[in-house]
Order: sequence, then C-alpha cells, then structure tokens
Amino acid sequence: MTRTLKVAVVGLGIGRNHIQNGYRTNTDRFEVAALCDLDASLLKAAGAEFGVERLETDYLEIVGMDDIDVIDICTPPATHKKMIIAALQAGKHVICEKPLVGSLADIDELLDAESRSSGHVMPIMQYRYNDGAQKAHHIIASGLAGRPLVATCEVHWLRGADYYEKDWRKSWSGALGGILMNQAIHANDLMFYLLGPVRSLFARTATRVNRVEVEDCASISVELECGALATTSATLGSVEALSRMRLCFENVTIETDSRPDFTADKAPWRFVPSSAAIGGKIDEALAGFTPPPSGFAGQMQDFHKAICNKTPLPLTLGDARQSLDFATAAYWSAKTYSAVALPVLPDHPFYNGWQNAF
Ligand SMILES: NC(=O)c1ccc[n+]([C@@H]2O[C@H](COP(=O)([O-])OP(=O)(O)OC[C@H]3O[C@@H](n4cnc5c(N)ncnc54)[C@H](O)[C@@H]3O)[C@@H](O)[C@H]2O)c1
Repeated sequence: MTRTLKVAVVGLGIGRNHIQNGYRTNTDRFEVAALCDLDASLLKAAGAEFGVERLETDYLEIVGMDDIDVIDICTPPATHKKMIIAALQAGKHVICEKPLVGSLADIDELLDAESRSSGHVMPIMQYRYNDGAQKAHHIIASGLAGRPLVATCEVHWLRGADYYEKDWRKSWSGALGGILMNQAIHANDLMFYLLGPVRSLFARTATRVNRVEVEDCASISVELECGALATTSATLGSVEALSRMRLCFENVTIETDSRPDFTADKAPWRFVPSSAAIGGKIDEALAGFTPPPSGFAGQMQDFHKAICNKTPLPLTLGDARQSLDFATAAYWSAKTYSAVALPVLPDHPFYNGWQNAF
C-alpha cells in the first residue's frame, strides 16, 4: 500500500540536502513533519525555509512523536548509535548518514536492535544512485561485462583548515575515522556494489594534509572474492578535486573521471566495449533501462517503495557492515603492516573499534 511517510530530520548540516534533494523531490512520498538540531537558531531558520512547524532541540522529543514514521539522522558520526537504537526501540524506521557507527561490535548491536523492532535501518550511500553507476551495475549484473579483471579507484579531494572548524571532524572520538570512514567510504561502497565482496587487503594510511588526529591519506591494495584486483588511493590534499574509477572487465572497460566527485551533474561514465557486437548488446541493454533519479532523490524513492511494499530496503545494515568490515581490516593492516583476510571476526583486536589504537 502506498502512503506518505512522515519524516523527522535530525541534524541540519547535510540534513538540509536530504530535505532539498531527497524529500522535496518526492513530495508525493514524504512529508517532512519535524526538525531537530541542538542549534536553536539553525533550527528556526530551517523551519521557516522548509515550512516545518514542529522544531525540537531534544532528540528524545522526536522519538516520542507517535505520528512520525521515519527518523533521518544527519548528526555527527559518534552520535548515531544511541540515536538509532532509541528510534528502533520506539518502532521507527531509520535513515542514517554514513559512517553509521564506529565498530563491527556496534553494527552487530544495531542488527540485534533491528531484529527486535518493527522499524528498519537504511544507511545513506547515495553515490550508488549516480546515473552512470546504475548503468554500470546494470551491464555487470546482466552478464554482458564478463569476467572482472582489475579496478582502480581514486578519491582525491581537497579539504583545508576551514573544513575542520567543526571540531568533530578532526578526532577519532568525533568522526570515528578519517578519509576511510568519512570520504572514501562512498567510493569503496561503490566498488563493493559493482565488484562484490572483498577477500583480503593491504592498507597504508597517513595524516599528511591537515593537522588533525585522523588519517587524511590512504592507499589500499584489494583482492575481491570474484578474483579481481583493485587499487584505491584517497587523499584530502588534491589541488584539483576528482573522483576516478576504472574497471576492466573481459568484455568492457568502464570508467568515470568525475569532478569534483561522483555526485557531479552529468558525471561522465564511459563504457568501452571489446567489440562492435558487445557494444551493440550494451546499447540495447541500456536502451531498455531507466535508472532511478540520482543521489538522495533515488535512494529515498527506493526506500519509500520498500517500506510500502514491505520488501528489503535498497541499502541495509548488512551493507553498512560490509563497509565497516573493510575499514576494520584496513586500519588493522595499516597498524600492523600486514595483509588482512575478510571478514573480520568477533575475536579480532579491532572488532570493538580501532579509535584508541592510533
Ligand atoms: N552522504 C554524504 O554525502 C555526506 C556529506 C556530508 C556529511 N555526511 C555525514 O553526515 C553527518 C553529518 O555531517 P555534517 O557535515 O552535516 O555535520 P555538521 O556538523 O555540519 O552538522 C551536524 C548538525 O547536527 C547537529 N547535532 C549534533 N548533535 C546533535 C544532537 N545530539 N541532536 C540534534 N542535533 C545535533 C549540529 O548542531 C549540526 O547542526 C556525518 O555523519 C557525515 O559524515 C554525509
């Protein structure tokens, strides 16, 4: 049954973009019925701008609102876990920004809380909803691409001292991690989406761009379960910001060079076939495929469909767990100069987090 879901948005930094791009583009599916932020002036301004009357500085007031179906959490990473658990205990559905939480132990706690609730949790990973990424996924899933061979992925962005004026972004305790957890997490998730799970990795991390606690450069050599090999490189010190990905399959090379990142309007994705015959089949497959809208609009649209049809969410706690498994292995590898096999198990020294280890 289709109905309008009432949403409360909590945290009005990126939360404003969720409203503008995710809910205002889907007004037949969602009503933003309440807003919450610790900053009362920000709250008042957003209420006036988006025409929302119910404004709260206390999160628990939002959790107690009977008519709210979905709580969309857009606060800093270290606040997410408690908020998600409180929302699930109240039977609410949750949409939450990345990184969801800071350890595999935490995500396993969320999986347990979700299993006891009528609510479900969807992590935000809006890069999957890029037009080109959707087409790439369609071509790969249809079998046309053939065997995956190698991939490279660069997240080369620029962040100066002004980015760290929000104190939480500098520290392990506030951000839960640096570029691996907060920026490259999107591209890494896209790699899992297109190539499947990771078998092992070797990672190096460093803090070389800004004077902060968390890492702002990383380089990872990845072996995927499908047999393909990938290399990822991430920095917050690239004078020209770009996100680049290149995937070599037996029958097609897929590549994008998106500036500043994969969310850029008309981010270019190219599909280079091994022959005219394969090119024809790819053209045919894409002609019959309509990707969902890009970014938050598409992810929220699919969320709405899944909740109304009682089908699995487009992204789940399982997807967030995959990102955390990767990050846990990468931090352990960086710390110990060793190759790490995935999945990371509960008896691993970093299962409960790595934030005190650096
Ligand atoms: N998906 C993306 O592309 C994307 C982009 C940017 C940020 N993010 C993620 O979104 C989250 C927020 O990042 P941001 O850059 O918007 O941060 P921000 O600091 O700009 O905004 C966070 C807001 O949350 C409010 N807040 C903090 N604690 C609160 C609480 N307990 N109750 C109510 N409000 C509270 C703050 O007052 C602030 O206005 C982070 O997890 C970040 O990694 C995702």
